[in-house]
Amino acid sequence: MKMARILITGCDRGIGRAMCLQLHARGEEVIAACLTDSEELRESGLRVEPHVDVTEDDAVRRLAERLTADGVRLDWLVSVAGVLGVDEFGSIAFDDMRRQFEINALGPLRLVQALSDRLGDGSKVGIVTSRVGSLGDNSTGGMYAYRASKAAANMIGLNLHHDLKARGVAVLMLHPGLVATDLTKDFPRDLPWIKPDEAAAGLIQNMDELTLETAGRFRHANGEDLPW
Ligand SMILES: NC(=O)c1ccc[n+]([C@@H]2O[C@H](COP(=O)([O-])OP(=O)(O)OC[C@H]3O[C@@H](n4cnc5c(N)ncnc54)[C@H](OP(=O)(O)O)[C@@H]3O)[C@@H](O)[C@H]2O)c1
Repeated sequence: MKMARILITGCDRGIGRAMCLQLHARGEEVIAACLTDSEELRESGLRVEPHVDVTEDDAVRRLAERLTADGVRLDWLVSVAGVLGVDEFGSIAFDDMRRQFEINALGPLRLVQALSDRLGDGSKVGIVTSRVGSLGDNSTGGMYAYRASKAAANMIGLNLHHDLKARGVAVLMLHPGLVATDLTKDFPRDLPWIKPDEAAAGLIQNMDELTLETAGRFRHANGEDLPW
């Protein structure tokens, strides 16, 4: 099988880190974009791109310039970077809501736009959003900032699908499952949590199976289609 060149954001820890290590272990050429840095991934033999804050135009532009200078063409571009802040009606902190939008919604768009020259016919884009961003699945309310930022990320991803499919680029929005990471450490422990490795395996399988025919959807890592 041909080795793929894959760039993933949010690889400092959690699901992004697990995806990097699994893809590297099966022989893919992985570029791990981290908000800070990862000596662990570098020592494992991956190319690490440190200080890629997806909210900063300059940081993302510099990443694009480095990849262009090295003649890198990406087979996969996977946006995993994200944050979750909890809030409640009556005490919404709008600055924190803007922060979550910057990272969760504008971040993937900034990334894909800046790196779109590195994508071509047959490339794939995965955007990890969240089931919590589904309008059809919202039966409990709450989490205004996270839900709204992830719903916006889904809409942005669907727009990217429409813009990029003519160039042969397949875009998929992904929910990783309920995953025990630092992001969810304050949630009740009696929920059916899965480990980052299991989520990463499901996400990778979805990316493996993604084609232009199955693009433009919102998928659970377990393979189910989710409602927008
Ligand atoms: N865990 C779940 O159950 C769950 C469910 C649905 C969706 N998701 C989504 O899955 C993705 C990964 O989540 P996770 O559970 O693995 O969380 P995590 O362990 O907290 O990892 C999040 C990653 O995003 C990075 N990040 C944060 N802000 C960033 C920024 N401005 N620019 C670039 N990177 C940034 C973090 O870097 P630092 O480590 O340096 O802070 C970290 O590497 C997120 O998009 C999340 O919303 C998770």
